[in-house]
Amino acid sequence: MQKLLVISDPHICEPGEKIIGLDPKARFERVLDAATTAHPDATALILLGDLTHNGLASEYEVLHSILEKKTIPVIPMLGNHDRREAFREIFTSTKTDENGFLQYAIDLPGHRVITLDTLDGPPYDDVHHSGRLCPDRMTWLARALAGSEDRMPLVFMHHPPFETGIVGMDNINLTDGHAVLTLIAAKRRAHLFCGHVHRTISGSTQGVPWTIFKSSAHQGVLDLETNDSSLSVDEPGAYGVLLLRPYGVVAHSEDVGAAPAKPPERASGSG
Ligand SMILES: [Fe+2]
Repeated sequence: MQKLLVISDPHICEPGEKIIGLDPKARFERVLDAATTAHPDATALILLGDLTHNGLASEYEVLHSILEKKTIPVIPMLGNHDRREAFREIFTSTKTDENGFLQYAIDLPGHRVITLDTLDGPPYDDVHHSGRLCPDRMTWLARALAGSEDRMPLVFMHHPPFETGIVGMDNINLTDGHAVLTLIAAKRRAHLFCGHVHRTISGSTQGVPWTIFKSSAHQGVLDLETNDSSLSVDEPGAYGVLLLRPYGVVAHSEDVGAAPAKPPERASGSG
């Protein structure tokens, strides 16, 4: 049985910078150490986007220095807080697709891992943090799904292409998610994995089962009425463990450490 590790939304900052009083770098290191220690047999680690908080090269340098101490293969993805050019400036050996997007299709014995680049830009919009799959990326996804043949597609994208009921995050989810889900639904047996919401959620939309992983840093709140994507709480960070079964996949989420409960605070930016 193969196993994949997932860490979502690390939001790495420069040393000393904090988000709602939390140190994202320290949180990420703690979660990463816990995950790789408990699961040394994992095939790879998928970082589900929002690698950094401000998309700065200096922040990617911090992340790179943490990851280079580990031997596990890492599949990095981009989120709305990332900047593709700054990422590539530091992660120089990372390949892109033919159009310059950070997307991969990786075949395992019974599964095809498909990771998508939903970052909308350039140009980037620092106010609106929604995601996008442009026609080039949609074409790439269609090809990746078709190429899975009889393998189960495991599709990873930072922005959910569906509503969760959390209004603030639904307003900055993936633009034209219906079309993306239609494409994925046509390839039966696919499972979708997302980040962005900073909460552990599962469900199914248009016949596609999905799982959202919480962050390694600050978490979101179950607020179904307020249009505020920055509401965040100090709850434990977490990592995900995917168990690849012959006819499916099992998704676990494991909290790391405990923190005292505090009322919601606003983080800078969104999500
Ligand atoms: Fe995030």
